[in-house]
Amino acid sequence: MTVFLNGQFLPIAEAKISVLDRGFIFGDGVYEVIPVYSRRIFRLSEHLQRLHRSLESIKLANPYSEAEWTRIIEELVACNEPADQYLYLHVTRGVAKRDHAFPNPPVPPTVFLMSNPLNTPPAALLQSGISAITAADNRWLRCDIKAISLLPNVLLRQMAIEAGCAETIMIRDNDFLTEGSASNIFVVKNGVLLAPPKDSLMLPGITYDVVLELAAANGIPHQVRKVLVGEVFDADELLLTSSTKEVLAITSLDGKPVGTGEPGEMFAKLHELYQRFKQEVMRA
Ligand code: PDD
Repeated sequence: MTVFLNGQFLPIAEAKISVLDRGFIFGDGVYEVIPVYSRRIFRLSEHLQRLHRSLESIKLANPYSEAEWTRIIEELVACNEPADQYLYLHVTRGVAKRDHAFPNPPVPPTVFLMSNPLNTPPAALLQSGISAITAADNRWLRCDIKAISLLPNVLLRQMAIEAGCAETIMIRDNDFLTEGSASNIFVVKNGVLLAPPKDSLMLPGITYDVVLELAAANGIPHQVRKVLVGEVFDADELLLTSSTKEVLAITSLDGKPVGTGEPGEMFAKLHELYQRFKQEVMRA
């Protein structure tokens, strides 16, 4: 596997960083995950804009222009084998003596990119849907930043795994839905798709945007508004979205069936629209 580290393309075994990297010491950095289908990069400009906002939010200068990022990413995609890949891109505040304050003067950021094979959910999972649990959202108040410090998300995901489930749906203040440990969550009730609004308590998902655009373009009733915890438990359908999982149905929540306990009509419709949209992107 060829990776990119600080200006160089090299085999992953040769990619080395200092133990004093602030990403390693403090989790002081941000990242992106970008899907690639048939070697075409999905929504690159949107991912780079979100990266830019994450960097701005942590007061770290963007090391590259959009054109430079694009060149690096295209070269990395070309160097790696599968036609469908997911790119992981990561920028930290660089290497400095351990001190919480930013290095002054600033040091060069660490920039790392790797490509992995993209394995979208298999047919069996699309047919069965996945199981999820709910848990209190105990993360900080800047969940809109795609920060590499993911310990809360890791612990929340592990809770699901230990319960024999695939994802944890987070409820803030015992009151409203935010998102999944590594996904956005939609509720369906009486044929209406409900999405929590993009604010500082959730990551603004690129897949979330695509799904809402597809709903708008295809006359699917939808509302972007605060979704209350009661609505999550009373849902006809629950859907999960992310760059690597695309659109999946959640058919069991806290051990009880969601709606009929099978993927519903809204899932079928949005999944089909998403696949069609992907094909269009790949033909573009
Ligand atoms: N995670 N919310 C959280 C907390 C996430 O980590 C992710 C994605 C999303 C969905 O965002 P998008 O549609 O842009 O992928 C929402 C990625 C896939 C990850 O960390 O691997």
